[in-house]
Amino acid sequence: MSVNREVKRITTHVLQAMKAKGEKIAMLTAYDFSLAGIIDAGGIDIILVGDSASNVIHGHETTLPITLDQMIDHASAVVRAVSRALVVVDLPFGSYQGNSKLALESAIRIMKESGAHAVKLEGGAQVADSIRRILSAGIPVMGHLGLIPQSIYKFGTYAVRAKEDAEAVQLEEDAKLLQELGCFGMVLEKIPAHLAKKVSESLFIPTIGIGAGQDCDGQVLVTHDMLGINKEFSPRFLRRYADLYDTIKGAVEHYVKDVKASDFPNDQEQY
Ligand code: KIV
Repeated sequence: MSVNREVKRITTHVLQAMKAKGEKIAMLTAYDFSLAGIIDAGGIDIILVGDSASNVIHGHETTLPITLDQMIDHASAVVRAVSRALVVVDLPFGSYQGNSKLALESAIRIMKESGAHAVKLEGGAQVADSIRRILSAGIPVMGHLGLIPQSIYKFGTYAVRAKEDAEAVQLEEDAKLLQELGCFGMVLEKIPAHLAKKVSESLFIPTIGIGAGQDCDGQVLVTHDMLGINKEFSPRFLRRYADLYDTIKGAVEHYVKDVKASDFPNDQEQY
């Protein structure tokens, strides 16, 4: 028996067609079932199960500590909630660098155990072997250039990348290489807008920017940041679409007050 699903799923091919038509691509992060369901219902094109979970969910200072098992747990919950968006999962630090066999094993675990649709990894030429090997197994790969947070201890700062010519030229070469290898798209993080425009125009695969200006083919934000759950993080590129920190704190304070005053539950709220 075939199941006729009403919702048309976003695929990597749909994303490339969107770029060809000049239609912008919207991407957000999610790490759990409830938020992923809301984000999918809101019409998002790509949900990224980002290793930013290491920061916003697990409270680590960097993205380095999150494990492959933790990423698979988050991804499985997200996949169960989503009926339209393409679900992309970050390969965590240590699961693909410098070892293409390990990279393939990690990517296969993500796809098999979570049911996600694609993986993302950070870097250009230095991870080309890993990308090639993952793609050879039929797993779609998204690249990530510019500020690559898994290399924070090499950079020493989260400042804008590729401001100097040499790094900008390297980034352009890496972007072309990712396309040649067969990546279906790439994130460009925190680079000058004019460079992101040049790179985007030179590729047929979509670029998704974060702090990379308005000429990328799409945009991504960390959901906890754009919803204002996370108050301390305020980079220039972040637009807050809600102020959930104050909304949730206010609701909690109200609840505490009602419980203490024996005002909750009332007669209608009990059996
Ligand atoms: O982990 C993440 O959330 C990301 C985005 C910032 C692109 O990689």
